[in-house]
Amino acid sequence: MNLVPAIEVDGLEQGYGKTIVLKKIDLTVKRGQILALIGPSGSGKSTLIKSIMGMLLPRKGSVKVLDTNMPNRLVLGKIGFMAQNDALYQELTGKENLQFFGSLLDLSKSEVQDQMDYVASIVNLGPQLNKFVKDYSGGMKRRLSLAISLLGNPDLLILDEPTVGIDPELRDHIWDELHKLANGGCSILLTTHVMEDAEQADQLLMIRRGETIAQGAPQQLLEQYKVDEIEDVFIAAGRDQDARLGSD
Ligand SMILES: Nc1ncnc2c1ncn2[C@@H]1O[C@H](COP(=O)(O)OP(=O)(O)OP(=O)(O)O)[C@@H](O)[C@H]1O
Ligand SMILES: [Mg+2]
Repeated sequence: MNLVPAIEVDGLEQGYGKTIVLKKIDLTVKRGQILALIGPSGSGKSTLIKSIMGMLLPRKGSVKVLDTNMPNRLVLGKIGFMAQNDALYQELTGKENLQFFGSLLDLSKSEVQDQMDYVASIVNLGPQLNKFVKDYSGGMKRRLSLAISLLGNPDLLILDEPTVGIDPELRDHIWDELHKLANGGCSILLTTHVMEDAEQADQLLMIRRGETIAQGAPQQLLEQYKVDEIEDVFIAAGRDQDARLGSD
C-alpha cells in the first residue's frame, strides 16, 4: 500500500507571465526518502515547491502528492509545510503560534500539548516560546516555522530552506530528527544552499537554468563526477550544461 511515491512530478513546466522558470522537471520522492533540492538563487526551487503544494497550477506536466493530483485540501492536511518566508503571527508568542496551528489539526487538547512539547524540543525553543514572535531573531523564526511544520506527525514534510539561520549544532540535532522521521516512513523534500544538508539527504536533485542537471544519491554523484565534494558535482554538472546549451 505504501509503495506509491509520496511525490511524483512528471514533465513539469512552470513560469510567471512570459517567463519560463522550470522547463521539464521530473522528480520522485519515495516513502521514507529525503530528497534535497539544490540550485542557485532564482533557479526555481521555491517555484517547484509551490507547484508541489498546489499553490501554482502546472503549465505543463503533472504533480501528484500521496497519489492525488494537487491542489487537494485533504492531502494538504497530511503535509507539514515550511515556506521560505515565515508565515507566523507576529503579535502572538511562539507558544500561541504553536497552539493556533495545533488547533487546526484533528487532535485533542492534550495531544496538541504533547505535540507542542515535542516539536519545541526538536528546534530547541523552550523558554523563548513565551516571547512575542515580533521580537524573535531570524533564526528563531525559522525554528518556530520548522516546529509548526512538524506538528501532527505529517506523512510528508516540505521544507523550503529549513536550515537558514540555524547554527551547526542545532542543525545536526534537527538532522537526527529528520532521519528518525524518515525511518518512521515520513517523506521529506527540502531545499538548501548548505552542502552539509545535501550530504545528509538520500537523494539530490540539482536544478539550474530551468533544468535538472544532476540527480542521484550523494555518494553516487560523487563517484559519477569523480569529485570529493557535492559542491563540485554542481559545478561540473553546470559546466556540462553550459557546454550543451551555450553559456549566454
Ligand atoms: N510571483 C512571481 N512572479 C514573477 N516572477 C517570480 C515570482 N516568484 C518567483 N519569480 C521568479 O522566478 C524565478 C525563480 O524563483 P524562485 O523563488 O523559485 O527561486 P529559488 O530557486 O527558490 O531562489 P532562492 O534560492 O533565492 O530562494 C526567479 O527569476 C524569480 O524572480
Ligand atoms: Mg526559494
